[in-house]
Amino acid sequence: MIKAAILGHGTVGSGVYEVFEMNAEKIARTVGEPVEVKYVLDLRDFSHLPYGHKFVNDFSVIENDPEVSVVCEVMGGVRAAYDFTKRCLLAGKSVCTSNKELVASKGDELLRIAEAHNVNYLFEASVGGGIPIIRPMIQCLAANEFNQICGILNGTTNYILTQMIKNGVAFEDALGQAQVNGYAEADPTADIEGHDACRKICILSDLAFGDKFDPEAVSCEGISRITLRDVECADRLGCVIKLIGRAVRCADGTAYAFVAPHLVPKESPLAAVEDVFNAIMVEGNATGDVMFYGKGAGKLATASAVCADMLDCIAHREHRRRISWGDGSQKLLRPLDTFVSPWYVRYQGPRAALEAALPCESVREVGGELAASVSALSTADLKARIAKLEGHVISNMRML
Ligand code: HSE
Repeated sequence: MIKAAILGHGTVGSGVYEVFEMNAEKIARTVGEPVEVKYVLDLRDFSHLPYGHKFVNDFSVIENDPEVSVVCEVMGGVRAAYDFTKRCLLAGKSVCTSNKELVASKGDELLRIAEAHNVNYLFEASVGGGIPIIRPMIQCLAANEFNQICGILNGTTNYILTQMIKNGVAFEDALGQAQVNGYAEADPTADIEGHDACRKICILSDLAFGDKFDPEAVSCEGISRITLRDVECADRLGCVIKLIGRAVRCADGTAYAFVAPHLVPKESPLAAVEDVFNAIMVEGNATGDVMFYGKGAGKLATASAVCADMLDCIAHREHRRRISWGDGSQKLLRPLDTFVSPWYVRYQGPRAALEAALPCESVREVGGELAASVSALSTADLKARIAKLEGHVISNMRML
């Protein structure tokens, strides 16, 4: 009998317990013996639950129990999660997590500690919820250099945008429903302002390019400034608005990485990704484009990925996964000023001035304003041209 522990009994933690109960037989078949969750760490009172007796509020009980070989950290945040993860790894226990904030900020260090103690630190659930993406990148696509990663990486914002686009639901109402559904972070600002997607594109970039991409340094813009008028303008240009995380490798090994709302042409596969679903397109230099799709947030979808990592640790105890990236000293991140892309510009003013300032491909009149698609320009060039339009530009976004 394998003994496991869960750190944190929130949305994902309770889902992990539920999956171990619901699929106990299948799990025992997979790893060759039953797995028992021996402890759940949480300071809150869960004594009313049928497994209430398993709750502990002293982490050292888990740390010092040699029977516990695998732990999942689903507490979120960095401080306590970092301390407990480190102590588990030092105690020779593998750790699996959905905590993208911790992986993005301390993953390099925690992976080094795991290696030194011959245990695993796995984080499939940290990107794309229930979608397999980390393991495909490090195993199935391992022979590739990654040219580009582009995806919808946040379920909450995709749910909100879908509700706005399809049903004309107001931003606040859609956010409230995403919270009820268990998609949003404890502080949904991280979702709305793009920080959550930023952590995820950093983790994918770390894996793809082999050195740390610091979320603090990566350009990050969320969806809080998008209005129903932008949604309408995008529609008139044959597009939908999606919050996109992108990483693009340059010939010299440096890379652009950023998160921003984009206009996505309706014929793109990413345009059809709705509600809480995420999709990630990965371009390998041998395989070409590969796309991963599924539920990007939610209790059981995320728990599915955490549990699978735990089973991987159990089934391959003697065989550590080789996952690592550098500490960021290679400074691979390129400033975004030189990143070239087509643009969407929303403008109120004389059409002739707009067309003189920008290489417009298509201009539509929407409610007394103009919505233009603009051919590829660098970020710096677009900014300089917009500055010449003297405050007539209402909004702008990249187009895919
Ligand atoms: N708040 C996150 C999201 C949870 O909405 O995608 C999954 O990482």
